[in-house]
Formats: sequence, C-alpha cells, structure tokens
Amino acid sequence: PTEEPVFDISLLQKQPNLPAQFLWPREDTYFAQEQLHDPPVDLKGFLDGDQEATDLAARQIKNACLSHGFFQVINHGVDASVIEAMHRHTDTFFNLHVSKKMALLRKPGALFGYSGAHADRFSSNLPWKETFSFIYEHADGPGHDLVDYITSGLGQDFEEAGRVYQKYCEEMKKLSLVIMELLAISLGVEQLHFREFFQDGCSILRLNNYPPHKEAGLTLGTGPHCDPTSLTILHQDNVGGLEIFLDNKWIAIPPFPDSFVVNIGDTFMALSNGKYKSCLHRAVVNKERVRRSFAFFMNPRDDKTVRPPPNLVRRQEARQYPDFTWSDLREFTQNHYRADANTLQKFV
Ligand code: SIN
Ligand code: FE2
Repeated sequence: PTEEPVFDISLLQKQPNLPAQFLWPREDTYFAQEQLHDPPVDLKGFLDGDQEATDLAARQIKNACLSHGFFQVINHGVDASVIEAMHRHTDTFFNLHVSKKMALLRKPGALFGYSGAHADRFSSNLPWKETFSFIYEHADGPGHDLVDYITSGLGQDFEEAGRVYQKYCEEMKKLSLVIMELLAISLGVEQLHFREFFQDGCSILRLNNYPPHKEAGLTLGTGPHCDPTSLTILHQDNVGGLEIFLDNKWIAIPPFPDSFVVNIGDTFMALSNGKYKSCLHRAVVNKERVRRSFAFFMNPRDDKTVRPPPNLVRRQEARQYPDFTWSDLREFTQNHYRADANTLQKFV
C-alpha cells in the first residue's frame, strides 16, 4: 500500500466549498428521510439477574438481529463519567494542530494511529472525517498499554487521556461480553458459548471526528460498508449521522442519551450461520455541528475457527459459510479496497 495523503481537515473546513476529492455521487449522499423506531434494549434486568427482563431483552435483540442487526442499549452499566471523559479527551486530541497528531500517524496497512481525511478501503471517494485508533488486547496481564502508546507520540500531558482510553476499552470489553451472553440466549445457545471466541482477542477502538460543513449533503463521513468484525459497540454524540440500509433505503439511527449502538458484524453473522444480519451502514456529515463517535470493534482470537454452534446447523449442507479464522477475514478486508455488503460472500 502507498502512503495515504494527509489533509488538514480543520483548514479545508473553512473553505466555502468541499474539495473535489470529497464529493460523492449526488444520488449516494441524500440524507435518510426516516428514523429507526425500535425501542432501546434495557440491560438493567439482565445485569440484575431478573429472568423476565432478560427474556424481554433477548427477544428485542433477536428481532433486531433477524431484521438488520442494529440495536441500542441503555442501563448498560458503563459510568456516564467515563463517556464524558472520553468526549473531553477526544475533543482535546482532534483540536491539536495536524502536525502534532501526525506524530501518531497511522502507517499504511496498520490498524492503529491517527488518520487525516484519507481514502480507506470502505470508499472510492474521500470520507469527510479524521480518526484516531488503538489496539486493545483482551488478555489479562500486561498487554499493549495505551498510556505508553499515547504518551510516546503526544508527551506526558496525554497520560490522563491514555488512561481514559484504556478504561473505556475495559468497559467495552465487559459490555461486549454481556451482549454476547444475551446474543447466545436469544439464539437458544448456551449462555457462555461465545465467550471462548473472544477470550484472548484483539479489539480496536476508533475515535471518529466529523467536522461540519455547509456542503455536508455532497459528501459522506463514512462510506457504506458492513463491519467485518464480530460486534461493534458505538457511542455517538447527540448530533446524529449514523444510517443503515434497510428495505432499499437509508434509515437514521437516532442518538439516544446515555446509550450505545450495537451492531452485528460479518463474523458474528457467520457464527450465527447467517441468521443474524450484518447490515450495510454509513455516517453522514452535519451542516452545522461537529459530530463525534467512538467505535469499539470486538474481534475473536486470531486463530479461532469461526463455526456456528451445532444447534444452529441442522445438516452440514445447511452451513451458510465454511470455517474461517478472524485473521483470514481481516487480511482479506485489508487487501480489498471496498468492503461492502458482499464482502463475506466474496471472501468465502
Ligand atoms: C462506522 O461505521 O465506522 C462509523 C459509524 C459512525 O460514526 O456513526
Ligand atoms: Fe461500521
């Protein structure tokens, strides 16, 4: 792969017109005209061990996953102060001069680091955003330490930021295991069945910054794609911009206070033998307000074979996807310029 161009989006943002590289085909950029109306899934009952509330949450999750694979969760146990601290440190980081952010520039093919507006594998046009990504190892004990990584590029002033990102990842790991249990219950699988896939997995945290622009309707913040991961847990601020492609049209996922948006990725779609959907989605840009989102991508252990549990496969011929490992799929998506709704089909 070649070096990605780095744009100073804070300068581009001040120009009245979007530079040509950021213009997407007009027919692909119309904002969604509808919102998804699914009620949020309340996790409190499950966390408290209440059977009736657990059944309800599992039923809601099942309905969402059979149809489109996106649901929002509330009372998820993640402290509001952690989310607030994430916003504060993310704001400080993205407001740094681009020359400072470049100290942690994402190398071609790497999964971590800072990216200015760039052409990624999801898009043929440039997405109107910048991102800052980290690798988080699920294994206990001394792993890849985010504090060391952040301060190595940004200096000791960013120690606190590193600690907050680390804490947030730990909270996301806990929450993703809770959601995995509810997914298992909803599929009629032993509650802890999926846990072993993720025990020593490696996840990614990606902070997204979408600056506003008057011509927001001519570009996209994140182009249409399906997540190759198992599960994505996204926190979006109250600006809104996440949209899913359902019944042949774009539908907005409205921001909900103190919630997370959870979605099934291609790997979990395969783990469920195709029952649960990995849905095409994108993020649009706001005309007036900067939008931030934090995406935690949960992946299985590299070498773990992705294979659905026996009760989801009636006969061997009914397997929707052959066995594969996460490292195979990750390599495939990295080498393919466009990851789209059919990535998993093309891969297998
Ligand atoms: C993504 O799907 O990668 C980003 C979604 C968002 O920022 O809402
Ligand atoms: Fe995504």
